[in-house]
Amino acid sequence: MFNREGEVNRLRDSLNEPLIVVFGLRRVGKSSLIKAVLNEHMPNSYFYIDLRRFEERGYVSYRDFVKALEDTINDRVRSRKLMTMLSKIRGVSISGFRVSFSWGADRVMLADILEIINDWAGDEGLRAIIVLDEAQELVKAKGFNILPTLAYTYDNLRNITLIITGSEFRVFTKFLKLTYPESPLFGRAYVDITLRPFSRDQAVEFLRRGFAEHGIEFNEAERIYEELGGNPGWLTLFGYRALRVGVHEALNEVKMEAVKLIRREVCNFINEGRHLAERRYIRILETCMNGCSWSMIKRTLEAMEGRELNNATVASLIKALLDYSLLIKEGDNYALPDKLMRDAVMGLRCFTNYP
Ligand SMILES: Nc1ncnc2c1ncn2[C@@H]1O[C@H](COP(=O)(O)OP(=O)(O)O)[C@@H](O)[C@H]1O
Ligand SMILES: [Mg+2]
Repeated sequence: MFNREGEVNRLRDSLNEPLIVVFGLRRVGKSSLIKAVLNEHMPNSYFYIDLRRFEERGYVSYRDFVKALEDTINDRVRSRKLMTMLSKIRGVSISGFRVSFSWGADRVMLADILEIINDWAGDEGLRAIIVLDEAQELVKAKGFNILPTLAYTYDNLRNITLIITGSEFRVFTKFLKLTYPESPLFGRAYVDITLRPFSRDQAVEFLRRGFAEHGIEFNEAERIYEELGGNPGWLTLFGYRALRVGVHEALNEVKMEAVKLIRREVCNFINEGRHLAERRYIRILETCMNGCSWSMIKRTLEAMEGRELNNATVASLIKALLDYSLLIKEGDNYALPDKLMRDAVMGLRCFTNYP
């Protein structure tokens, strides 16, 4: 992990805490950080659930979630002893070397599974780490709510650490709600690790060193930073491609790919019941390409619609974009979170182009 010594150490030193929240924009390196630390320090006792698999879905059912948990137990942890212990609880069966959870009438209880994992970790002298990667997807959970179980785990299961990651601010405002009195997790302390994109200097150094490892002296790092910004994901992809197809071609490919991905993310947001306000959202993003203020957003929307808008309407549009981290706050102003978002949002039409 380039340039993440502080975060690596902090995560490693916090692995006995009940709750760690790793926040950062997409492709900034959250999953890599967690996997690097856990593979080194807890390789046999972490349960990794990648919720991105539900990204394009309208909702997440109990069956989906339980299946994801089942997969990590079968494919990652693979402890015979844990499986035997799990087989004692309701809704669990074992066949061959795989555990299977039922979600129907005889549905397995999440709290039961976590109790067993806690006991197993205690017996084995291990710390069990449960990773919910991109947990904002669980806002769409339908027919179950995992939060009370997480609170129960936090309060009672002393051998379990929860690691929650999120790329969107709503992991705090809509999922964990740690500061909301009505939330089961209200008031719980947690370790907060926020990953930021590389600065200009870090990005340049990252590229130079990456190329140097392949015996190449790279002199265009500044220019690449100008084009791609400091997101480690884009820089890594660029480096990887550049070695194959050359700098020029790689830059074009990464830009195109980034634009495609970002458009999909913006359109997922629009498609979550926001069609009617599509033009407003896109206009806000266009307006904020080079930074913008609240009143600038309001004026631009009013100009587009040719009428006055009330402040509450404008505020709720901005809040939704902030919640999904499609817009970020910088002091009193707003900005786009990723340089390449400019190209992605210019003239974007989700409803017609990206159903
Ligand atoms: N500090 C880093 N050093 C080297 N590569 C990194 C670093 N951070 C991220 N990457 C690379 O960037 C890409 C995106 O990282 P990832 O961990 O998937 O991001 P996230 O989980 O935040 O979306 C991966 O290919 C990863 O290898
Ligand atoms: Mg990730």
